[in-house]
This record gives sequence, C-alpha cells and structure tokens, in this order.
Amino acid sequence: MLIDLPIIPNPVKTYPPHAGNCNGGGGAQKWYSAAIFRQPQPTTNMPRVVLLNPGPVNVTPKVREALLKEDLCHREKEFADLLHSIRGKLVKVFAIEKDYTAVLISGSGTAALEMAVSSCLSEGRSLLVIRNGVYGERIAKIADAYHLPSITVDTPWGEPPRLEDIERALHDHPEIEVVAAVHHETTTGLLNPLQEIANLVQAHEKKFLVDAISSLAGDPLDFDRTAIDLCVGTANKCLQGLPGVSFVLVKKSEIRRLEKIPPRNLYFNLVNHYRAHEKGDTLFTPAVQIHYALDAALDELAEETVAGRIQRYRDAAHNLRRGFRAMGLEFLIPEAHHSNTLTALKLPEGMPYDHLHDRLKDRGFVIYAGQGGLGPAIFRIANMGDIRPEEFERFLESLKDCLASSGKPTD
Ligand SMILES: Cc1ncc(COP(=O)(O)O)c(C=O)c1O
Repeated sequence: MLIDLPIIPNPVKTYPPHAGNCNGGGGAQKWYSAAIFRQPQPTTNMPRVVLLNPGPVNVTPKVREALLKEDLCHREKEFADLLHSIRGKLVKVFAIEKDYTAVLISGSGTAALEMAVSSCLSEGRSLLVIRNGVYGERIAKIADAYHLPSITVDTPWGEPPRLEDIERALHDHPEIEVVAAVHHETTTGLLNPLQEIANLVQAHEKKFLVDAISSLAGDPLDFDRTAIDLCVGTANKCLQGLPGVSFVLVKKSEIRRLEKIPPRNLYFNLVNHYRAHEKGDTLFTPAVQIHYALDAALDELAEETVAGRIQRYRDAAHNLRRGFRAMGLEFLIPEAHHSNTLTALKLPEGMPYDHLHDRLKDRGFVIYAGQGGLGPAIFRIANMGDIRPEEFERFLESLKDCLASSGKPTD
C-alpha cells in the first residue's frame, strides 16, 4: 500500500499559453515556436515507498530538490566551489578537519573502495584482509583484480574475526603494509570490533583501511581513538544523500606515502583525484547533480549532528527489534554484535523471501534479501535514511499481518 499522497502528473505545458493561435495582436500574424517545457514536479507529492534496504535510502525533500539546481559545467568555478564545500563539510561534520582530507569519486561505494585498495599498497608489500561477509570478500577481490599480494583472515559469515588470528598473521607476515576491514558487515548486520583491530594494526605499525560504507554516520566511529588511515564512505547510506558519489577520508599524512606509489589505473587513482581536487577540479566528468544533493545532505547531517543521527538510528533499530522479538522472529546473529542500522532475520518456516517481499512491497515497504549462501534463509531490514517512527510502526504491523495471513504462499 502506498501512503495516500496524491500522485501529481508531470504536466507538459506549452509556452506561451496560447501557442498555436497564429493571430497576434494588431492583426499581424505571429507564429510562436512550440517551446515546450516541463514543470518541475513538487517532490513532496511523490508517492512514497519506504526503503528498508541498506541504501539507496529515503532522502528528505530538501536533498531531492537539490537535484533541481541549474545545469552546471564541472570545469566552471561554481563546481569548484561545490566540491570545496562538500570536502570541507565531510571532514567538519566528523570533526576530523585537522588530520583528514576527503577525496571524492563519482560512482557507487565500490568505486571509492577500489580507489582506496588499488592506491594503498607499495610495491612488494601485502594487504591483510579481514573477511566475514560479502564486503570483506569484495576487498580481497579488488586486490586480486590488481594482482596485489594479499593474506586473508576468515571467520564464517556472522561471526566476528578472531583477534588472535589477526595478531598471528601480522606477526608471521612482516611484508603486510595495510590491514583492511569492514566496519559494518552489511551481509549479516554485524559490527566488527574496529577499535580492537585498530589497536593491533597500530601495535604492528601498519596502515589501516576501513570500509565504513554502511556505518559512517550510522554507528559510532571514533577517529581520535581509532587510528584509521583510509576510511571509505558513500553518499547514499547513512549520510542520506543520493547514489552516484562516494569518497575516501584520508589522513593528510598518508597522502605523502600514497604519492610514492605509481598509479595502477587511470580512473581510480586516489592521489591523482586528490591532486585534481586541490586545484578545484575533478579528473573526469562527475555526477554533478548528485554532488548538489550530497552538499544538502551534509547540511542536514550537520544540523542533526552525527551523534544525533546515530541515536535516531539506534532508537529505530531498538524499536524494530522489539517488534521482531514480539512476532517470534529469530535474529541471524547475537544481539551483542548488531549494528545500529540493519537486522538480519531468519525467514519463518514455509515463507519464501519473494512472497514476503512482494506482499510488503504491495503495502509500500521494500525489504532486502540475504546474499550468497544466506539467500534462501534470511531477510534483512535496514533502518537508514529519512524514515519516520510511525512508518516503522506501520511496517511492523504490515509484517505481522503478512506473517499471520500467509504462513504458506497462496500463489
Ligand atoms: C559495507 C559495504 N561495503 C561496500 C558496499 C558496496 O557499495 P555499492 O553497492 O554502493 O558499490 C556496500 C553496499 O551495501 C556495503 O554495505
């Protein structure tokens, strides 16, 4: 069910209003060109589907309306100003402006991850990848694609890494230069013990690359205590921007090390992007309008504060989980490991995912499937984005109805 906001058709208007009437004033014949323009659609009147997938997320009208700014060439001063504004706001909102700089790339989160991974390793050194889900595995896949030597520390999906295994790998492989970990493993909703891993990384004097794509501004990340050299994020998850631009927050001191590494690619080299940004430029054509939206989203984040947003998400997750428990649903992982932003639940006996998904979509809610081997067994509910508490309540009621009314699919 879509909530009962009217759908406003996008009206096609002719200009001037009487175009087509060839009789102009004073009897002189005037032909108006059939200039046609499309009226901007008031975005607040769009039908609303509540996105309970972990990005892209529901955004506020202000963020969506930011797309409707004037057309802009990215080689003009106005885009340089926009880029400067976003980079400044990104480091300011996380209170890291003294030590970090932001490097943007147009593309999804994986683009920024590829930029970080492919740019971070000196010749002859290795990457240690901590894997317990799809996204840890993705880091290793990127390393493989560039033939970068890597060592992996694995635990089954849904289990935190064993710190002693990381310690042993660091001890046994002095060639390791960079350790890479995912903060929130979105595959299962597990928050990895970043602080403990960072302590080991620091003790062994290695560099730390963190995929914080689904955690930045959703779960606490203390940049003062946790020594992170490269932190990968994206616009369209907890930052509540739109998909199409992602970024790496890089320690300024780290840039000097990265500059010594010869580029391994054309599009994804972090140092080259950084150098272009410092001149107010981008290497290639950026997703201009998505940058407008990110700039607006960062204003909203600054207003809410990162701590405020984390608390809002924490409260939402808490209320959802209370509802899930009351329905008798089972969590995939122990609650102690839960992030603030995603809950993976076991599908009840006899309830195929597609059936549940389609019934909930009919009611205006998009849920998310499990990945890989977890696919047939679980479903995931994210609580990122601009979603109101009453919408979560309505979702819980709808889920309860679906579970009660259709233990077995009827079609
Ligand atoms: C932790 C993590 N890393 C990387 C990605 C990949 O991001 P994208 O799909 O935007 O490329 C995701 C996407 O959900 C993610 O959750």
